[in-house]
Parts: sequence; structure tokens; C-alpha cells
Amino acid sequence: MHIGRCRSLAALVAFACTAGCAGNGDGLDQNGQPITAGNTTTGPITADFQSIQDNVFTPICSKCHIGASAPEGLQLDAAHSYNLLVGVPSTEEPNLLRVKPGDPDGSYMVQKIEGAPGIDGGQMPLGETPLPQATIDAIRQWITNGAPNAPSAVSTVFAVQTTAPLDKATVKAPPARILVTFTQEVDASLVNDSTITLERIAGDRTERISIAAALAEQNPAVLLLTPSTVLESGIYRVTVRGTGGGALANLNAMTLGSDASFEFTVEPAP
Ligand code: HEC
Repeated sequence: MHIGRCRSLAALVAFACTAGCAGNGDGLDQNGQPITAGNTTTGPITADFQSIQDNVFTPICSKCHIGASAPEGLQLDAAHSYNLLVGVPSTEEPNLLRVKPGDPDGSYMVQKIEGAPGIDGGQMPLGETPLPQATIDAIRQWITNGAPNAPSAVSTVFAVQTTAPLDKATVKAPPARILVTFTQEVDASLVNDSTITLERIAGDRTERISIAAALAEQNPAVLLLTPSTVLESGIYRVTVRGTGGGALANLNAMTLGSDASFEFTVEPAP
């Protein structure tokens, strides 16, 4: 388990450098300027989500934290970061939220960028210069202020935004939680056994797996699914009912329009 993680980490860092650094030189942006938090074309960092995204998550973190290879399923590009951070339990430390509104000390992401004692794995950004104190202070202040989303991020369409694991992904360890994030807040009264299901697919048979489904307490655009038993190796399908009576809907009773489903594979234990 430990060896496995180290190996995939090395592969990841190597991948990040071929993908992110080719042609530009390590740590340089398209204009050949050094990438440093709080010193991009968008100006000094301020304690709001848009500024943190533009100055930190996009230029620094999303080199690694993107797409199917995003460590711990944490995508930090602009389209996904908010709902995978705010109110969402950490994978490494499941008792802590990645970002806990109002509580920067209790937010695992803050502990990771500060390299606090007791974190799993390394300080973020992994293997790079730690973020400047002014940047960490701005992130702390945004969390103290309740970690509000950027006003421009509010979508007019109700849809599934992303999932963790992603559709078609293969995961090494059985996920303790499955995430489904939405472009708008979900009506909590519609989150139940008939609107969200988890099945294990074995040949042409499917077996229903019992889950606890709930919206993230401080972020109702995020659905957290907790299987009641550790998932054994195999193929799983999550389905969110998006049509007909009793479909999942937003606060204005707008449904998804069709069912949404995704599948992932849990590898056998080594
Ligand atoms: C060079 C690649 C790389 C960069 C850049 C990077 N990370 Fe990571 N991150 C990782 C890896 C690999 C892990 C899992 C292993 C570990 O924690 O050391 C991880 C884990 C994390 C976790 C733990 C997630 C959880 O659910 O437990 C957080 C939070 C995190 N990173 C935040 C950040 C932030 C914020 C930045 C930007 C300031 C960043 N990372 C930049 C590679 C990176």
C-alpha cells in the first residue's frame, strides 16, 4: 500500500513535468515569467474564491490536480475546484473537511499548504516552493469569511458537474466516499434510496449496495455517498434519477432531465 502510493506519486510528478513544463521551462508561464502565487497578471491575491483560483489553484495546483489523474480525486481547475473542496471530507484524513467554512485551522487543505504536523503525504504544492505567507493568509481569510463561491460561478443550468471517482476510472483502494457534484444546489428532501443508487455489476447481474446518501452539510451542491460496507473489487455503477416523479431536482424543482450514471472499477487488493 505504502510502496504503491510512492510509485504512483513518482509517476505523477514525472507526468506533471512532461505535461506542464514542456517547452516553457519549469515554473514559467506562457510568457516565460516565473509563476508565483500573488504575482500573476490578475494582480495581488485577495481573500475571495476567484482570486484564489486565478492566482493559486489554476497556475500552481492544477498542474497535478486535474482530470482522471488528479491525486485523491481532487481536481483543482476552475470548473471543479469549489465543489471538490468546500464541505467535502479529505480522502487522506476522512474526519477533516478539505475546506471547512469558518474554520481555517480545521481545514485539511490549509494544513496541507502549511505543511502542518500530522498531515498524510507531503506539503502542497508537492515538491515545490511552499506558497508565500500572504497567499496562505488570503486563503485563511476566505475560509474565515465562510468560503463563499465566486458570484460568476453560479450556473443557470442544473446538471451533474463532476464525480469522484470519475466515470470509467479504476481506483486502487475502495473509496470510503463517492462524490457527485452539481452545478446548482440540490433539494435535500429528494435525496433518498430511490433517487440515488449504487450497484455492483457482475456479468449480466447487478447487485444493489446499500449507501448513506446526503448533501455536504456546508455545500448543498455536493452529494456524498457512503457505502455501508467496504467495497470489494469489482465494477460499480452510480445512478442519479433525473426524470419522472421523485427525480432529483434543484431548489426550483428543475430536474436533470434524464438519468445520470457513471461507472468505476475497484481493483483487487494487492
Ligand atoms: C507536483 C504535483 C502536485 C502539485 C503541484 C500539488 N499537489 Fe496536492 N497532491 C499531490 C499528490 C501526489 C497528493 C497525494 C499524496 C500526498 O498528499 O502527498 C496530493 C494531495 C493533496 C491534498 C489532499 C487531498 C485529500 O483529499 O486528502 C490536498 C488538499 C492538496 N493536495 C492540495 C493541493 C493544493 C492546494 C495545491 C496547490 C497549492 C497542490 N495540492 C499542488 C500532488 C500535487
